[in-house]
Amino acid sequence: MKAPIRVAVTGAAGQIGYSLLFRIASGAMFGPDQPVILQLIEAPIEKALKALEGVAMELDDCAFPLLKGIVQTSDASTGFKDANWCLLIGAKPRGPGMERADLLKDNGKIFIEQGRIIDAVAADDARVAVVGNPANTNCMIAASQAKRLPAERFTAMVRLDQNRAQTQLAKKAGVDLTAVKDIFIYGNHSPTMFPAYGHATINGQPAAKVINDDTWLQGPFCETVGKRGAAIIAARGLSSAASAANALVDHVRSLVTPGAIHSVAVKSHGLYGFDANVWAGMPVKTTTPGSYEVITGYAMDAFAQAKIAATNKELVEERAFVADMIK
Ligand code: NAD
Ligand code: LMR
Repeated sequence: MKAPIRVAVTGAAGQIGYSLLFRIASGAMFGPDQPVILQLIEAPIEKALKALEGVAMELDDCAFPLLKGIVQTSDASTGFKDANWCLLIGAKPRGPGMERADLLKDNGKIFIEQGRIIDAVAADDARVAVVGNPANTNCMIAASQAKRLPAERFTAMVRLDQNRAQTQLAKKAGVDLTAVKDIFIYGNHSPTMFPAYGHATINGQPAAKVINDDTWLQGPFCETVGKRGAAIIAARGLSSAASAANALVDHVRSLVTPGAIHSVAVKSHGLYGFDANVWAGMPVKTTTPGSYEVITGYAMDAFAQAKIAATNKELVEERAFVADMIK
């Protein structure tokens, strides 16, 4: 039996937390032979902490063989102590009529504090995955506080967008989901994101050739993927939760699986025209568990370049908006 790893989860009693924790404890995230200790962090609010007690009781009642311990706390230093993975979900969700960037001033503060504490107390091999919105810029904020942990260890989730794009392409082409490969998300987890259909394949053929409808690909396809979160809020009255938790399972599972190729928002070093030091979605290949390299060399046509320029501009603006905060 492997030694347990410590997985810290913020917002553990929230919507996403409730869909996520049971899958981590069942082995879906780190594999069927990897025991885990869950370190559950909630805001210091009586109602949230009471709800967390209930979640921990339910985790106990599942009798998961891989679950070797549960920590419940509102103290981030306790929650992140020796954590190997820090899953940062706890943040306000947006409501109808809001953009994710509207959350920046409120949620940004959380990530300053948590970035600093993770850097101080988490395990030497700690990895951080940010889900709380706006995820890319919150990830940049958390990474800005790290002196010990390299910035590349901080990633933000665009996997939900990749999964959404894969399904939309499969539906349009009338093929099984598994026939669609290599659809990657560039840029911000916001309506400006670019699902780069030009490199996707369907049954090994270029997706654009199979679908043969550039007007749909450039218009309704990009728009549906980019605005799917808002469509879910309009339908459910609440933001996506089960699909977000599922995407985080995929995000981390792919990051611990050498050879996996997937979309992750990572620190830009200028590739694909992104400004250095924004966190932008890009295709990566996992090298060793928890580490990755950005896949380079995908050619971008004029449409793709314009989309990337627009999403980069938004990321740069979000960074400017929080410049005072990360000084
Ligand atoms: P929720 O309101 O149901 O749960 C959030 C939880 O976080 C609450 O229980 C709250 O008490 C807790 N919390 C708040 N501040 C905290 C802090 N400082 N430390 C620890 N816990 C804290 O919200 P949700 O639906 O679970 O969504 C959480 C976040 O994830 C939102 O910002 C949402 O917009 C975002 N989200 C991102 C994606 C994505 O693809 N990146 C997808 C869905 C949702
Ligand atoms: C999503 O994409 O579903 C989430 O980011 C939630 C939201 O606010 O759209």
